[in-house]
Formats: sequence, structure tokens, C-alpha cells
Amino acid sequence: MKSKILELLRNTASDYLSGEAMSETLGVSRAAIWKVIHQLREEGYEIEAVPRKGYRLIHQPDRLSPDCLAPYLTPDNTFQPLIHFASITSTNDYAKSIALEAEEGTIVIADEQTKGRGRRGRDWHSPANQNIYLSLILKPDLPIHQVPLFTQMAAAAVWEALSPVLPGLTIKWPNDLLFEGRKICGILTEMSGEMHALHYLVIGIGINVNTTAEDFPEDLQSIASSLRIETGALLSRQKLAVNVIERLTQHYREVIKTGSFETALTVCREQSNLLGEAINIHSRDSVESARAVQIDSDGFLVVETASGIRRLSSGEVSIRKK
Ligand code: BTN
Repeated sequence: MKSKILELLRNTASDYLSGEAMSETLGVSRAAIWKVIHQLREEGYEIEAVPRKGYRLIHQPDRLSPDCLAPYLTPDNTFQPLIHFASITSTNDYAKSIALEAEEGTIVIADEQTKGRGRRGRDWHSPANQNIYLSLILKPDLPIHQVPLFTQMAAAAVWEALSPVLPGLTIKWPNDLLFEGRKICGILTEMSGEMHALHYLVIGIGINVNTTAEDFPEDLQSIASSLRIETGALLSRQKLAVNVIERLTQHYREVIKTGSFETALTVCREQSNLLGEAINIHSRDSVESARAVQIDSDGFLVVETASGIRRLSSGEVSIRKK
């Protein structure tokens, strides 16, 4: 009933809607309507109540719950179902815990993570109600060696969703989106499978939307940024999350239909901040100089080193300082 009442209030937008009209439309008592209005207010909805006129929706909270995302979603563009948490340890951890039974296309989204994880055992800074923390469960009938391509697919989708807001955003192979060298988004792809069979994939996406410079811990201030820091604007996480989901949907549909990741790879190549650059390849106890040449059709980074051409499937690379 909550989502129906919200829908009615949203549809009357600038006008008042009486409790009586709502109770007639929904076939419930006015007391029941009042109870839900009260509940919505507790959740952060600002609803004006004027005697003899009715209710009017003034402000909706920028939460990532299905109720809040509903006005922006089109029936045809979205992975389903959407599981929302106001706070969770890590959307990737939760997604993995349900992945075997979950429907393909399930999205886990949260307003806060208390144990957000990045690559290589790092933490992912995940304060409440500022950013987007999202994990997508996929079960494609594709061979395991194609898994790295899904990270490229996600990077392309996020770039397409965010670049209208922040032109100049670049993709750093394999899993980061940067603005002027600082990280705006990180992607963590995890999988379970055997040699020839993929059980599931979890693609975790963290986007720094409204975090301010002071909100970042000191050790991140020189390497991380947010859309708000770079644009000066407080942005709607809801609209951005829906755009990301929509772009992911389009790319994934194409991959399933054609078996090809070329559209996403083209975006990753064109927006890459590595290709053509002198880079360092970091391994556990050494750093090797190379030049980034191409991202190939398997999503590998082709590099030219002193000892010849090599393909990297994943790894830590950085642009060499001039
Ligand atoms: C990285 O750059 O190291 C990857 C960061 C990935 C962060 C996201 S936030 C949503 C999902 N849940 C997690 O715990 N991590 C990913």
C-alpha cells in the first residue's frame, strides 16, 4: 500500500490529495492512509497536510530503495529484483551469499556499507547516504575466460551514465573511473565457477557521488574524488543509480544477444587514460616499464615491454610520471 500511496501523491505533484479520495481509490480506511503517511514521514518524506484540502508531497529523500527509485525506472530497462539495505556490511558479500538461489539480474543496493571492500583486500570508503554501492548478480552461459570482459562492460556502462554529469571522466583499465587522476568509481568483479562452468558473477560498483573532500579520510584525499567535488553540485543518487542500471541493462542485453562485448570495449578504448601512455606494471616485488598499446577483444591490456609484447588479464598499472 505504501508504494500505491506514494504513486498517488507523486501523480498529484503540486496539488493536494484528500485522505478521503485516497481511501476510496485504494479501498482502505482513512486511518490506514494516515498510518502510512506517518510511516513515510519517518522515512524522510516531507508531506504537507492541510485540513479540508488533504496531503501534498513536498520532498522525497534521496534514498536508493525501490520505492524511491520507482519514479525514474522504466518498466523495460531494469534488472529485477532490486534488494535494498539502508546499511549493510558489503553489497558484494550479501550478493554472494544469495547468488546461487537468486534470480539472474538481481541487484543489491545500499545507502551505506560498514565493510565495503575494494580490490586486493582494500577497504572501500562507504559513508551513509552520500554515494552509490551496488552489486549485480549475473549468471551468463558463457565461458569463465570471459569474466574480465564483464568488468569492462560495467566500466563502459558507468562511464556512459556519469560522463554527461562529469565530462572528462576517463576509464582506467581494468576497473576504475577517474577524473584528473582521482578515483570516482571502482568496480570489483567476483565469481564462482569451475573450469568450464560459471555459477555466478557479482559485479560490485562503488560510485563517489556526494562525498565532500573533508569527508574522505586523509589517506584518500589525494587519490579519491567525487562527482560533487568535481562539479560543485549536490547530485541525485537516485537518478544516477537508475542511469547506471539502465546502461548496464542495455550492454548486458547486447552481450547475451550477440555474444560480443565490442560495444563496451570500444567505449573502454576510446575513454581509456592508459592507451598510448608510458606505464608502470606493478607486481609484488617489482615494477616494470611498458607502453599500453591496446585493450584486446578478451578485455586484456596489451603492453609493449623491453622484452616484447605481453597481455595482462588484470593487475596494477599506473601511468608513469613524466
Ligand atoms: C576497487 O576499486 O578496489 C573496487 C571497489 C568496489 C566497491 C564496490 S561498492 C559496492 C560493492 N560492495 C563492496 O564491498 N565493494 C563493491
